[in-house]
Amino acid sequence: MASSAEVFGGGTAVITGAAAGIGAGLARHAALALGMSVVLADVDAAGLERTCADISDDGGRVVPAVVDVRDADAVQRLADRVARESGPVRLLVNNAGVQQFGFLWDTPVANWERLVSINVNGVFHGVRAFMPRLIAQTERAWVLNLASIGSVTAWPLQTPYIMSKHAVLAMTECLHQEVELIGARHIQVGAVLPGAVSSRIFDDAGGVDTGDLTAADTEREAMFRVRERAISPEEAAATILQQAADGEFYIVTQPESVLGAMRDRADQLTARRAPAAPRSRFAAPGPDEHGSPHAVTTRR
Ligand SMILES: NC(=O)c1ccc[n+]([C@@H]2O[C@H](COP(=O)([O-])OP(=O)(O)OC[C@H]3O[C@@H](n4cnc5c(N)ncnc54)[C@H](O)[C@@H]3O)[C@@H](O)[C@H]2O)c1
Repeated sequence: MASSAEVFGGGTAVITGAAAGIGAGLARHAALALGMSVVLADVDAAGLERTCADISDDGGRVVPAVVDVRDADAVQRLADRVARESGPVRLLVNNAGVQQFGFLWDTPVANWERLVSINVNGVFHGVRAFMPRLIAQTERAWVLNLASIGSVTAWPLQTPYIMSKHAVLAMTECLHQEVELIGARHIQVGAVLPGAVSSRIFDDAGGVDTGDLTAADTEREAMFRVRERAISPEEAAATILQQAADGEFYIVTQPESVLGAMRDRADQLTARRAPAAPRSRFAAPGPDEHGSPHAVTTRR
């Protein structure tokens, strides 16, 4: 099988949410390990400048683009600019995403709308802006959308996020089918389902202003503890891009926990079992409980 450097090397990548976390790891790996020219798109101008400077100091070819993925016109302008200045895109990663903690009924409307507009609309805007050119080009192309292990689980106190990640997975599965329907064999669509990856997503997550503030804070603290077992964005990036090069649709950074969660989900649905509050979704499956978590995250 071809290495990710053979598949992606020399091509152009566009990565949203690339100033930090997984997006920055992907940008770094694509530029430095794979030799791609990388357009980093993010709403955080200062963070973008820092990340681009770091990668270019190490010899990577990077282009910063301050873009808010909530703005469909801005994402379209990005696609037009990339086509003009960089030519065909080999890799598009719709990665930008945010978190939210607290009971659903306590969630501020503004936080709900912000999360949906970034996590769901942002992915749609990326697909809508870039796909027509990808379909028209003859060069091979990959479109990866950041779903999550949360795309195949239900998890209380993170309901808007979990809902958005189920939506991204469904959107990506349907997109894959649509690409197949039109016979665009040169385009490979992939859903990325990471487990815990070290980043600031839990620090920057929304909370609640009224209702059960303690529940929201306790959930955030629980996720900080999950993060102690996280892999680095660089490790996640290398795994994601190698699996994409290998032709995988379901791209999983931590197979032991993510595939366990997939099996649990399939079992729960086919047994028509109501979703019980899980104990941990990032733990590896135990030896006796196939796919069931064996480590306990602290919960109320
Ligand atoms: N970190 C994890 O454990 C984990 C696990 C599963 C899935 N994911 C998914 O991976 C993706 C990246 O997460 P992360 O942990 O690296 O997060 P992060 O918070 O470290 O980085 C997210 C980046 O997105 C940018 N961003 C936020 N809103 C934006 C907007 N409107 N337009 C453009 N950019 C915007 C931020 O500025 C930031 O640079 C998300 O979609 C997340 O849901 C993360």
